[in-house]
Amino acid sequence: MTGHARSGTAEDVPPIDDWNRLLDGRVAVVTGGGDGVGAGIVRLFAQHGAHVEVAEIDATRAERIRAEVTAAGGSIRSHVVDVTSDADVARLAEAVLAAHGRVDVLVNNVGDYRPLVPFAQSTPDSWQAIYNVNLRHVFAVTRAFVPTMTDARSGSIVTVHSVEGMRGYPKDPVYGAMKAAAAHFTTCLAVDLGRHGIRVNGIGTDLAQTPQVDYLTGYEDDAALWASWAPVGRVGWPEDQARVALFLASDLSSFVTGHNIPVDGGTKAGGGWLFSPREDRFVNRSRHL
Ligand SMILES: NC(=O)c1ccc[n+]([C@@H]2O[C@H](COP(=O)([O-])OP(=O)(O)OC[C@H]3O[C@@H](n4cnc5c(N)ncnc54)[C@H](O)[C@@H]3O)[C@@H](O)[C@H]2O)c1
Repeated sequence: MTGHARSGTAEDVPPIDDWNRLLDGRVAVVTGGGDGVGAGIVRLFAQHGAHVEVAEIDATRAERIRAEVTAAGGSIRSHVVDVTSDADVARLAEAVLAAHGRVDVLVNNVGDYRPLVPFAQSTPDSWQAIYNVNLRHVFAVTRAFVPTMTDARSGSIVTVHSVEGMRGYPKDPVYGAMKAAAAHFTTCLAVDLGRHGIRVNGIGTDLAQTPQVDYLTGYEDDAALWASWAPVGRVGWPEDQARVALFLASDLSSFVTGHNIPVDGGTKAGGGWLFSPREDRFVNRSRHL
């Protein structure tokens, strides 16, 4: 179980009964779980024994992940939900709580950089649109499930934001600001809710190959350049994100809260340093890579 008595002894560390089923019996809500990073999280959580409740705007994607996970023996339901709609969020919470009476894990994963608007061309409408899809629903969905976690004195909230909220993002500063706000909301909420047994952490994604961000098409002849694009030297995949989400959702991270982990192949750590395959050295003033 996620909740357990606090005794002031080492007994407070939750036991891990089965390392292959780190979420056994837990109820996990994943927004945007129909494809991309969210679907990677859904698959791994289901493999680890969670009952997964997917909130997905696209009916085809919602059904596809439901059928796939069910066929693999997992426990899953899909809800066709737009998390930017308060009415849909209320409907989701009602359906999930009616079925399970609780939620142990919430993953706020929905987000989108599109349409990418340079700041000089941005408008109040474009600011609002980026806010709605990257931040507002994080507040709405989290608020919908915090009371049940507080009652249970147990829970883990994981918000997938972006490495662009953790470094300067010149292409759309408003998007970067929304992701930074999601990261700082994570930090603040963790401090607020820790005494209720709820942990809150975030993931700063970068370089994950998904329907939204295709890092491979058109770059087939440039594979050698991955050494300069990411310190780990390769593109990332939803599975890379999902493994960190599993760590944060499960008791593996029982003493971790308020943190935002870049899951980015090292792009944040690399800062302005780029590896030059041609020069076989790192450069920070590249004339050519
Ligand atoms: N892929 C990357 O490299 C990358 C980089 C930085 C940040 N991110 C962030 O990671 C998260 C996941 O990104 P992704 O690349 O997997 O995205 P994606 O667009 O490939 O997948 C998102 C999923 O969410 C669903 N969705 C979109 N809007 C929704 C809504 N309003 N309600 C419910 N479901 C909705 C989509 O249908 C889709 O299934 C996002 O928050 C994104 O901003 C991704």
